[in-house]
Amino acid sequence: MVHPLSQAPQHFRWSSVVGLHVLSILSLLFLLWAGYVPAAMAQAQQISEPVRIRFSHVVAENTPKGQTALRFKALLEERTQGRMRVDIYPNAKLYSDRDEMEAMQLGAVEILAPSLSKFGRLGFPEFELFDLPFLFATQADVRRITEGGLGQALLQRLQRQHMVGLGFLDNGFKHMSANRPLLEPADYQGLRMRVQSSRTIARQMRALGARPVDLPFSETRRALGTGVVDGTENPISNFWTQHMHEVQTDLTLTGHGFLGYAIVVSAPFWKNLSHQQRQHIQSAMNDALDWGNSVATGQNEEALRALQVTGKTRIHSLTPEQRTRLRSTVQPVWDDLGHRIGSSWLQMARDTQSSQ
Ligand code: LMR
Repeated sequence: MVHPLSQAPQHFRWSSVVGLHVLSILSLLFLLWAGYVPAAMAQAQQISEPVRIRFSHVVAENTPKGQTALRFKALLEERTQGRMRVDIYPNAKLYSDRDEMEAMQLGAVEILAPSLSKFGRLGFPEFELFDLPFLFATQADVRRITEGGLGQALLQRLQRQHMVGLGFLDNGFKHMSANRPLLEPADYQGLRMRVQSSRTIARQMRALGARPVDLPFSETRRALGTGVVDGTENPISNFWTQHMHEVQTDLTLTGHGFLGYAIVVSAPFWKNLSHQQRQHIQSAMNDALDWGNSVATGQNEEALRALQVTGKTRIHSLTPEQRTRLRSTVQPVWDDLGHRIGSSWLQMARDTQSSQ
């Protein structure tokens, strides 16, 4: 027979054990909830919130750069089903070419496409190779640099300033404009010519007897209109879309130099992305650049036709003799850059070129 008193403690022990178990399970559930739910929520949020990429540039949308940026946006957003979003700010709406690099260093913008001429000022004078007058005769000459080892070496160097180079984009050959024809070196004498922030381009203007004035692109049209400067150089797509024809009576088709771009992404932003996200960006950009490089020449030709139709600016061509004189006048620019970056860079650029 069981003593009645012996049951009570046994029953008591059993219920406390159950109680303790329930308590521990509840605490465990609470801890799990407290620990994992926020993490899971953060993860879910990461999945549902698109990665936002701000892409700032200084030209109009209907230019090779403007169109390529739009193409990149469309491709990336479509391929990631909107999980990566690109907001484009054209026409220096967000930053002018003076401020955009600093903005990227501060994390205020993720992608830029500065002209190659603007990298010298940032500590990459080797990029000014592209500014050498009469280095390139055709777009294919440019391509031999941008698609070869030299182009890759240049992009690699950008890491020093926390930028990842995604590729190169063409605009086209530059021509000279002013309120008079620029057929002979003497025609440049005393002109104030707006230039990009490239010492090589400034040197070129001085070799011609002109005074270089370094101005942001967004201020150029106004500076030409108000007479702060007398002339400038640019591909026709930029000349046309900035309405420079309204303030310049003459455009001389010198084709003396080339304007292209490097697409750069902020390195800290890039490092925070997953491998797959980086692949999405690079492949959308590669496809956009292939497309952009295939239509850039056509866009410049179209701009020239549109310009001819307005009849506002007289368009001049150089005779072979005038071209030779222009070419030999600007020859010292090569030596100047050679002294600054070392002659091996110049030699590498020369080696890529077809005989002209
Ligand atoms: C300029 O500043 O003249 C051009 O480089 C602008 C551009 O980005 O095409």
